[in-house]
Amino acid sequence: MNVEESSVQFEAPGRLRHFLTTEGLGRETIVEILDIAESFISVGERRIKKVPLLHGKTVVNLFFEPSTRTRTTFEIAAKRLSADVINLSSARMSTSKGESVLDTVKTLEAMHTDMFVVRDKASGTAHLIARHMPPGVSIINAGDGRHAHPTQAMLDVFTIRQYKNDFEPLSIAITGDILHSRVARSQIHALRQLGVKDIRIIGPATLLPTRIEKLGVRTYYDMDEGVADADVLIMLRVQTERMDGQLLPGPEEYFRYYGLSEKRLKLARPDAIVMHPGPMNRGLEIASGVADGPRSVILSQVTNGIAVRMAIMAKLAGDAHRESHS
Ligand code: CP
Repeated sequence: MNVEESSVQFEAPGRLRHFLTTEGLGRETIVEILDIAESFISVGERRIKKVPLLHGKTVVNLFFEPSTRTRTTFEIAAKRLSADVINLSSARMSTSKGESVLDTVKTLEAMHTDMFVVRDKASGTAHLIARHMPPGVSIINAGDGRHAHPTQAMLDVFTIRQYKNDFEPLSIAITGDILHSRVARSQIHALRQLGVKDIRIIGPATLLPTRIEKLGVRTYYDMDEGVADADVLIMLRVQTERMDGQLLPGPEEYFRYYGLSEKRLKLARPDAIVMHPGPMNRGLEIASGVADGPRSVILSQVTNGIAVRMAIMAKLAGDAHRESHS
């Protein structure tokens, strides 16, 4: 476990200061966040979609990498909690003039902002910033390099819990570009802490990290074997932008061996659900008929992202308030 990162993340046992990684989060904290998220689902279904929990707080969305789902759902989540929200992306920031990310965040923090949601292409950026923040200011990792995407993993386990009651007996197959996937790493940590024993990692040898079994998963190079009788199929995007060399066969060959087709889906359990964090490459990792089919919960993942991100922000604000009064 990354002890340093975990100690920065927690103020005191069970009391979150930042949200950087699912590693070492603990079952109790994960379940607490899922339960809070459950209570926020109905907020999105009301005529007035707002609660006052972050009223008077300022949340800054800092995205140094492109994002559709994460950036937008964080903005909606913060607004539903009544926070003031500032959205900044690389093109509009002074980092494009040579300012460091840390100086940019310290500058914004000097404006008495309360929470930063940070995405960056470098692993460790959110952790680095968190170590330099004064008490009362929280950092949320919205994806850093290949390292972690903890809020995506939380919305994924929330979605699994919606469809499958108990985590322990589940067989969960994660297929695709595991090597470059911050999502897979965060999912594995969360699923292990929730008690899932059968986590299968499927992909070509060039896209599976060495020693991934140390995380408590089994690897499969044959997708038909890996998806057999699985309860949950998680497909991952092939991240060509992070590949230096020729790690992949051609697209048709990749789909033939590692794509989720209707035929391959039949090998899983009849009530299996299909997930994808997005963005999807249709026809490369997943067939359109599966992505849009009855077993797909891909759009539920997007909807759930709002409630789960509301829950994480509400817990951080609540824990910071308790800390300042203790
Ligand atoms: N799943 C995910 O992180 O998607 P975006 O890149 O669109 O935020």
